[in-house]
Amino acid sequence: MPTPTRPLTAPAATVAVLAVLLPAAGAVAAAPTRDELVNADYIRGRTAFEQRCSACHTLADGGGNLTGPNLYGIMKRQAGATPGFDSSPALSAAGFQWDPGRMVEFITAPAKLVPGTRMAIPEPVPEADRVPLVAFLMLETGAADWPRPAAAMAKDPSMDKSRPIQERFPSFWNHLMTNTTRYRMETPAGEVRFDAYFNTDGTVTSNDARISGFWQIDSRDFFCYALRGVPAKPDQFIECFPVRAMAIPRFAPELWTSNPTAGVTLHGGIERGRPQPGG
Ligand code: HEC
Repeated sequence: MPTPTRPLTAPAATVAVLAVLLPAAGAVAAAPTRDELVNADYIRGRTAFEQRCSACHTLADGGGNLTGPNLYGIMKRQAGATPGFDSSPALSAAGFQWDPGRMVEFITAPAKLVPGTRMAIPEPVPEADRVPLVAFLMLETGAADWPRPAAAMAKDPSMDKSRPIQERFPSFWNHLMTNTTRYRMETPAGEVRFDAYFNTDGTVTSNDARISGFWQIDSRDFFCYALRGVPAKPDQFIECFPVRAMAIPRFAPELWTSNPTAGVTLHGGIERGRPQPGG
């Protein structure tokens, strides 16, 4: 059982007093100061958010809930109280209001701050990215009283849509176009496994000759692809992901899960390398 350093239900006033009396208690990193937040690198924060959070969270006012809740207004909210999102009992009972320090702790180790939370991240956000990410989050969710650094944004090469995808998102491109995407589809009639190869010409081929498809990146920078000829029901499906969410190269048999249709679960992963054509 994890042992909280203080009762989670302690009234806010008690917590504040304890924090003042015991500034050095525990091994928790210091909360970022306002100066650190205002001066944080916006592009670095945005890149970290896009790569590590955007697959599960939207930020804009009125944005939808994905696997995780929309984060607009999160800094003034009780944990686990996002309207329209079914938060875990652990998060709803955490009993704190989000602030920059807690956000840093959460993106370092979600289950350490909130044991039992349903949010899982594949690795802690690297230390150098934490404050920039939280500052970016505050700017984009209505919590910052300082402006976005317009000059920094103009210099970001990934924003220049006139440049080819492989220059804007080189790590995404290299990862997907040189490795094998491995699928496991669970259907009421049984399980089907197959591999897919995303090709630079926009086609998708497979180790199963019946399966083929295509992919494209749309104007919102979402990577969308369609596969057909899958030897199961459904025999075709489409999936879309923010391309920036795919920019950290990862290898694992199961990296994402989706439901192409009711009762069917699709697991996707990426394996190193791919067979050479004709080999
Ligand atoms: C794989 C999906 C996934 C990723 C990636 C992810 N989250 Fe989450 N996040 C969730 C889920 C699911 C919840 C709800 C957790 C619960 O109910 O216990 C959540 C909850 C949260 C909450 C609390 C919301 C509330 O209502 O109190 C915050 C804040 C948050 N995430 C921020 C982030 C940040 C910042 C990142 C990137 C470092 C991130 N998340 C990455 C899925 C994800």
